[in-house]
Amino acid sequence: MTEQKKLFIKTYGCQMNVYDSERMAEAMGAEGYVTTEIAEEADMVLLNTCHIREKAAEKVFSDIGRLRPLKLARPDLKIGVAGCVAQAEGAEILRRMPLVDLVVGPQSYHRLPAMMQAVGQGARPVDTDFPAEDKFDHLPDRPSPLRGPSAFLTVQEGCDKFCAFCVVPYTRGAEVSRPATRILAEARSLVEKGVRDITLLGQNVNAYHSDTGGLAALIHDLAAIDGLERIRYTTSHPNDMDDALIAAHGGCAKLMPYLHLPVQSGADRILKAMNRKHTAEDYLRLVDRIRAARPDILLTSDFIVGFPGETEEDFAATVALIEAVGYGMAYSFKYSARPGTPAAEKPMVEAALADDRLHRLQAILTRQQRQVQEEMVGREVTVLFEKPGRMPGQITGKSEYLHAVHVTADPSLVGTLARVRITGAESNSLSGVVLVSP
Ligand code: SAH
Ligand code: SF4
Ligand code: F3S
Repeated sequence: MTEQKKLFIKTYGCQMNVYDSERMAEAMGAEGYVTTEIAEEADMVLLNTCHIREKAAEKVFSDIGRLRPLKLARPDLKIGVAGCVAQAEGAEILRRMPLVDLVVGPQSYHRLPAMMQAVGQGARPVDTDFPAEDKFDHLPDRPSPLRGPSAFLTVQEGCDKFCAFCVVPYTRGAEVSRPATRILAEARSLVEKGVRDITLLGQNVNAYHSDTGGLAALIHDLAAIDGLERIRYTTSHPNDMDDALIAAHGGCAKLMPYLHLPVQSGADRILKAMNRKHTAEDYLRLVDRIRAARPDILLTSDFIVGFPGETEEDFAATVALIEAVGYGMAYSFKYSARPGTPAAEKPMVEAALADDRLHRLQAILTRQQRQVQEEMVGREVTVLFEKPGRMPGQITGKSEYLHAVHVTADPSLVGTLARVRITGAESNSLSGVVLVSP
């Protein structure tokens, strides 16, 4: 029996990193590591990083710096950098940060145990390959227990879209889909461990295709698994919403009425400069078709303000698109120039102007979010309870629309679905009463 060591993982960025962190923890688990929430007691600290905006990437370096006293106190503490900054910067991280012992990219983390052995022999390995072998074939089976009844499942990786602002095609590589048989097996094993709600993940998830078909076919196959109650997917590109996937929103009861469909801007000039390959009108027509299939669907999006060349008129077009769609929630970001991307060559919008637009956009999006939440009051929803709430006697879960819902109820309901009447809306969640216990 190997001696138990402690692993602390900090995850930055998107849900795909959350999934990867779990898989890395499992890979290290097979080597005798157990995870800890306390960095100070760890034998290894792994930072699973994000490169999407400059601030996110720079935070990693300041966080590594903050680990210095820990490493000085305990020189045998190992520090690893994983994820998209690892992929983008590679060996440069070792040069800049002498504290770091290893650097591993998002496609090679199944090699972590071997890299740790090399570290044990005094090496500082870097692996940012896109290896021919599939990392998923080399990871240990997913152990139980998992964290609650909702899980992520990566089905697709990489992106071929090359939006002019985005580093993802460089950090995650070309689009690759996992075989449907593997995904179905992983889903079945998650369900056996108590999972009821699976979110399928991909950098461009609706580009998924395997020998059994596209994402719609995969969703229908997953829906046939007994005990799996809810399916979601993220993140989608508007141009990959095909007829079958739109139809699935009307025809597959387990596919939840929630869709993250980033549009980035409402101005055709900017969409073209971003290389999004669709117009605002294309997007609005797509929204109409999705709503025709599933009228109650809750839509969310991402927006970038201050993209190079964005005028006040372009910004007004984005506001008009938001008003036309009516989002349940949306993320908005100030454009960040990323090295190596085409947009980084263009002159920036003045920072104060971009800040001002970001604040105006966020005010509009917050108002829409509140309005959608207020409209839920009085309605009945189905909640999958995930964990005890913040207040004693409370439990909390997610509605089909992915709203967080708090109720006062028996903790034994955690892991189950129940009908709930919504009685109140707070800024980021809803409260309600359970109508019938299962
Ligand atoms: N694959 C997804 C998400 C990619 S990254 C998609 O295509 O929608 C998540 C979000 O970060 C993007 O939707 C975009 O809004 C934002 N983003 C990406 N690059 C950015 C940059 N250089 N500056 C600011 N925001 C950016
Ligand atoms: Fe980035 Fe565009 Fe690909 Fe999304 S679709 S990951 S924004 S390049
Ligand atoms: Fe960030 Fe990489 Fe995800 S850059 S958003 S962690 S794909």
